[in-house]
Amino acid sequence: MLEKQPIGDTVQIEGWVRAFRSNRFIALNDGSVIHNLQCVIDFENFDESVIKLITVGSALRIKGKLVESQGKGQSLEIQVEDVFVHGTADPDTYPIQPKKHSFEFLREKAHLRVRTNTFSAVMRVRSALSYAIHSYFQQNGFFYMHTPIVTGSDAEGAGEMFRVSTLDAKNPPLTNEGEVKYEDDFFGKETNLTVSGQLEAETYAMGLGKVYTFGPTFRAENSNTSRHLAEFWMIEPEMAFYELDANMDLAEDFIKYTIQYVLDHCMDDLTFLEKRLLDEEKTKPQNERSEMALIEKLRFVVDNNFKRVTYTEAIEILRNSKPNKKKKFQFPINEWGADLQSEHERFLVEKHFKCPVILFDYPAKIKAFYMRLNEDGKTVRAMDVLFPGIGEIVGGSQREERLEVLQQKIEELGIDEKELWWYLDLRRFGTAVHSGFGLGFERLVLFATGMGNIRDVIPYPRTPQNAEF
Ligand code: 4AD
Ligand code: MG
Repeated sequence: MLEKQPIGDTVQIEGWVRAFRSNRFIALNDGSVIHNLQCVIDFENFDESVIKLITVGSALRIKGKLVESQGKGQSLEIQVEDVFVHGTADPDTYPIQPKKHSFEFLREKAHLRVRTNTFSAVMRVRSALSYAIHSYFQQNGFFYMHTPIVTGSDAEGAGEMFRVSTLDAKNPPLTNEGEVKYEDDFFGKETNLTVSGQLEAETYAMGLGKVYTFGPTFRAENSNTSRHLAEFWMIEPEMAFYELDANMDLAEDFIKYTIQYVLDHCMDDLTFLEKRLLDEEKTKPQNERSEMALIEKLRFVVDNNFKRVTYTEAIEILRNSKPNKKKKFQFPINEWGADLQSEHERFLVEKHFKCPVILFDYPAKIKAFYMRLNEDGKTVRAMDVLFPGIGEIVGGSQREERLEVLQQKIEELGIDEKELWWYLDLRRFGTAVHSGFGLGFERLVLFATGMGNIRDVIPYPRTPQNAEF
């Protein structure tokens, strides 16, 4: 906001009033940066009827002279010469007042919360991260591909899909047996919102070499956690001729690049968010406070290698550990083959290794059908990247490229081969080793901003409670 303008110039700025003190000091913000610009009115010589319209939340155009500020904590201010009121905001009903509102309260005001410091900072960081993601892949020979949102396939085979239908939900056509007649549906077959663009991305990787998607994905899971959304954005690179090691290298390099990007471009916002967190931490008992401040945490991730550990090694560690002296895990790990819960993932990352961890070579039984079977016949070349404070941020794998092995797996799981004929074609015509992964964008934004709840890093969170607008 005006940083490059020379002192003494007459300038014009348009924005929203964040605070208005003593009928004299307007803190104006146009959304571009965290700092407000102080605009000083000589109220004795100013039209009183205009001053009356200036309240918190109103939108103004201000003309005035840029001068060095007398006040603390800011270098420039404007001596107001002219004010045009674009729109007023009734102080009795405008909900965003210059005081601390709880995030729960602000979630109810999702359309206005971006006018607070915290949310505008988070959303600028979110935007910068989006740019960094495209920039990384474009610089590294990847092609951006758009995968379908409406699809007939369940990429993860987990059955967590939102049905898409043009049928009248209240009066659907029924068969003689009383079942819904989906043949009458516009698509002539069952369709759903995509849970992942991976399978389609694989088809393009096997023609373009290296591709990535970055789009919305949907999961109809009824999980009310601070890490799950029903609609979230996922980045999914897919690379021909990559084995699992190269996939892990890429995931690590990619994440570090995006974090470095926000360190390079969003320092004002990060500093603000860090201070917010430090204030919040002061209210917690000493042993619950985080060891590193936000910016130090981000630098730590960029500067240190992620620890790579097999599932089998991780199980050994977990069997011999307790989360703390008194407590056992809520779900103790008794045997090889058990799925890890988030308490285990967080223990490994936050207590044991104290750095991001890539877990790989998981038991085939707990992972998706498309993952490459290892020579031991019981593990697959899967990898999950686990992050401090977040848990799983990336899930990926080397893909099964052998037709017979994949066909057998599909049969074992009772999936109809006919539904995946096109996917199997990749293994019929010019098959090759290939790999990819999915990074949950909101989880990356959570990490980069230090926010505690995934609902607060996406403009309009879709969860079982929030889908009104
Ligand atoms: O581990 P997931 O389910 O993997 C896939 O969908 C693969 N097809 C990706 C691939 O290999 N191309 O999801 C990938 C990531 C998770 O690690 C997590 O970060 C995020 O997506 N994620 C969610 N984020 C928010 N809300 C949810 N409900 C999420 N489910 C997964
Ligand atoms: Mg996963």
